[in-house]
Amino acid sequence: MRWLPKLAPVAGFNACPLIFLKEILMNAFQNFTALQVMQDAPVIPVIVLNDVAHAVPMARALVAGGIRMLEVTLRTPQALACIEAIARDVPEAVIGAGTVRTKADAQAAANAGARFAVSPGYTHEVGQACRDAGLALLPGVATGSEIMMAQEDGLTELKFFPAMQAGGPAMLKAWSGPFFDVKFCPTGGVTLLNAPDFLALPNVVCVGGSWLVPADALQAGDWARITQLALDTKNLVK
Ligand code: 3PG
Repeated sequence: MRWLPKLAPVAGFNACPLIFLKEILMNAFQNFTALQVMQDAPVIPVIVLNDVAHAVPMARALVAGGIRMLEVTLRTPQALACIEAIARDVPEAVIGAGTVRTKADAQAAANAGARFAVSPGYTHEVGQACRDAGLALLPGVATGSEIMMAQEDGLTELKFFPAMQAGGPAMLKAWSGPFFDVKFCPTGGVTLLNAPDFLALPNVVCVGGSWLVPADALQAGDWARITQLALDTKNLVK
């Protein structure tokens, strides 16, 4: 019951505690597939944290804005500790690790409590490591050969990265022919303004982007701004 007081400030808890608790328990025990991770909201925030003290209030701010699938990138020395803190203290969130590039990254992410992984590219070794660790994986692809390599390993939900630089919506339209059975999460150069161009495509389930968690908002502890940025994505339609 250690975590109960921590839930109280979260929107919805006071309104209907039993339903809210059921959701949290389901969150905690459900194994999410990559498709479920993508379908939860129109945007997966790509998060860079340099300070463990920012992790929990940042995650609560996003959850308050309706976004619970959170990708904390393994780009800073504090990233794993941040994942651990969110996994422990924010049960309403589903924490994932981004920038997973090696087998060791996948294992460390799972040990820290990550529930899914996102990678900037794809190797069979990373695919196998995520399977072994029980992590749903959204691997990054930018070419047809990379898509085929991921498909060889049974992966059909992929991150298109870096989306704008590698061809944007036009590239995804071209891929929809030969790769009719693949779904994408374009990430890299995606903003609130251009996200609708991607989300309008049938082979796009959601987008990824760093704009929801600006470095200056973290630095200033401006959690209300992060909540507002999350709420703004509600106008995005998939
Ligand atoms: C990344 O991995 O850095 C993501 O693609 C984020 O890109 P963005 O900062 O352009 O949203």
